[in-house]
Amino acid sequence: MPNKSTSSEIIMTVRETQAAEPQITQAPVRTIHKIVKYGDPVLEKPGATIKRFDAELEQLAEDMFATMYASQGVGLAAPQIGKSIRLTVVDVTTGKNPEAKIVMVNPEIIHAEGEVREEEGCLSIPGFRGYVVRPQFVTVRAQNAKGETFEIRGENLLARAFCHELDHLNGVLFLQHLSILKRDLIRRKIKKLRKQGEW
Ligand code: NI
Repeated sequence: MPNKSTSSEIIMTVRETQAAEPQITQAPVRTIHKIVKYGDPVLEKPGATIKRFDAELEQLAEDMFATMYASQGVGLAAPQIGKSIRLTVVDVTTGKNPEAKIVMVNPEIIHAEGEVREEEGCLSIPGFRGYVVRPQFVTVRAQNAKGETFEIRGENLLARAFCHELDHLNGVLFLQHLSILKRDLIRRKIKKLRKQGEW
């Protein structure tokens, strides 16, 4: 899920970050993955359950955070980088608070309540947004990158991000929650962009 920044804001943020950061850093080098766009079949197929919890999985999760931050997103699911597995990362602070980083492996929604209708977008469907009704409160049970089970409750944007990212793990995109009219309009526009080589 992207946040609501415009592209001009994104450029400014990147420049500020580059200027503020010291040149010498201990942080490991992160791989920024290419984000798969709508039309790739990997986005519409359910991800496989993860059974191996190792350093590779932890690294992949950290690379997904880096990839998500580079696109100013608040959530990213493994199928969006072409990996059909049940792993997703969420950070509604877009990297401002390290404590807000959430890694969810094999997650499931165990409780949901309330309804909020809000505009939503997706890093795999750049440039398009639509209103989607999601629960106001959601409780997710998941494993972390070490395989430990935990439960987490989210409200409003966090609840929305959980639902959006868990949908990705089931091959579901936010387009499927829109009216048929709105969905077809977006699909037609994307088809046109693809013909022009801009998608
Ligand atoms: Ni998405």
